[in-house]
Amino acid sequence: MSPYFEELKVKKFNSPELHNIVFNPETKWMPYFDFIATPIPIDVLLKDNFYSWLYDRHKYKAGVLKMESKTIYNWHTDLNRGVCINSMIETPNTSYTFFRNHLDLRHTVTELQYYPGSRFLFNNQKEHMVINYEGTRMMLTIEFEEDKNELTYLDLLHEIESNYYKTKFENLLILSMVDTIDSRAATCNFS
Ligand SMILES: [Fe+2]
Repeated sequence: MSPYFEELKVKKFNSPELHNIVFNPETKWMPYFDFIATPIPIDVLLKDNFYSWLYDRHKYKAGVLKMESKTIYNWHTDLNRGVCINSMIETPNTSYTFFRNHLDLRHTVTELQYYPGSRFLFNNQKEHMVINYEGTRMMLTIEFEEDKNELTYLDLLHEIESNYYKTKFENLLILSMVDTIDSRAATCNFS
């Protein structure tokens, strides 16, 4: 388990409605914590099982953060957010996200390699930075009502693992058992 980020074991989030918003020339973008951002109606996310499960437990708002070509968002920890979930929107861009553990002038980094639609639990309280080398980078992100003192990366990671994954696994197990029982019943009928 990484202290910085964790790719969630959920299907990719590819929403036509989300794409219609972010690629619409009439969409209004506004400054937000040194990014350019647009809010995303919560209904767009609630159509997805995982985002819906999460919203029932921890209320959040959603938005897309945009970074223009040849920009850097320098080393920082977030002011309020303890944890978030990020999902990259497919655009032609070359960008890099790094975490670090030490403040020295020379230090090692850990890279988070996003790919479109994947969802990453992100520890906003570990120092991180983004370099957008080329193209426009767009990231769907969520902001919980609970701040860094109320909801941490590890809290949420454990909750997802012990509740969402476990329930999903149990449901799959039940479905496979029902399938087995059905197929046995079918076999009996035909024999
Ligand atoms: Fe940040």
